Amino acid sequence: MNGIRNTILALAAVAATPLSAQQLTLYSGRGETLVAPIIQTFTQETGIEVNVRYGGTAELAILLQEEGDISPADLYWAQDVTALGAVADMFAPLPEATLEKVSPVYRDSDGRWIGISGRARVLIYSPERMSAEELPRTLADVTDPQYAGRMALPPTNGSFIAHVAALRVAEGDDYTLEWLRGIAANDPVIVRNNTAAYQAIADGEADFAMTNNYYLGRFLASDPGFPIAQAQFEPGNLGNLMMPAGIGILATSDNTQAAVAFVDYLLSQTAQQYFTGNVYEYPVTGSGIVPVTGMGLSHTEAEANAPEFDLNTLTDLEGTLDLIREAGLI
Ligand SMILES: [Fe+2]
Repeated sequence: MNGIRNTILALAAVAATPLSAQQLTLYSGRGETLVAPIIQTFTQETGIEVNVRYGGTAELAILLQEEGDISPADLYWAQDVTALGAVADMFAPLPEATLEKVSPVYRDSDGRWIGISGRARVLIYSPERMSAEELPRTLADVTDPQYAGRMALPPTNGSFIAHVAALRVAEGDDYTLEWLRGIAANDPVIVRNNTAAYQAIADGEADFAMTNNYYLGRFLASDPGFPIAQAQFEPGNLGNLMMPAGIGILATSDNTQAAVAFVDYLLSQTAQQYFTGNVYEYPVTGSGIVPVTGMGLSHTEAEANAPEFDLNTLTDLEGTLDLIREAGLI
């Protein structure tokens, strides 16, 4: 009897704790420089402290799986949907009121995770050495011999891997392996990451790359003359995949109310404007966000060009890496 009574008292105590006295533990696969400012404003406005553990998105997903029920994390904020898919069964369903704020294309169809900002796959190129007409029109075109030695490629980048995973879902493994082999046969300029792909083109080492949209805004913010232009494949092509960074609340969290408040804050006008204007990503909520112009492809264009694709199908990272390896790209 005493046990039950103590439990009831403990529950009452939790319920009586004001939100502002709660503390959240956030695992963030997003970089500190990008997200720390918005986490700070959340704490200023709500009084809720957020302890952040920063790490690589994939690394934190693996950590969550290892920790299981004893994970101290209340929230997991990931750079890409493949990592969210990998731990989706550890999340508690999000409230309907939160889900409704975001278009279904940016969230899990089972309501376990939700997109916070949109990131589009784009083509970048050197307008000095290449015309927009010369760019590939479809993903299949990328293996054309005319691009031999001209493409920069970060084969271990999470977004590239997710993109290859999408191609596997759309076209199958045999097709994808052939496509990867075609890229390898074209002898791409292998780079470490997306930033290095932009830099390789600016430095004249390559002429174009498949990458993510938001880096250009960051380069242009520090160098308005940065010599890179953005484009996309033909409308609806899988090459123009739109992938959100997103967040989920762990089912084992004791601070669900505060965690929901945090997610809702990230979807607020203030935060969405921050991701748009400062991080150069795209908003995932409706109207009222002022777009930045002159920083590459606009949100409207990217959304219009995006293919229809079920992001929940992107779960097999290991198998995708195996194919990239088998093609000799890593
Ligand atoms: Fe990135």
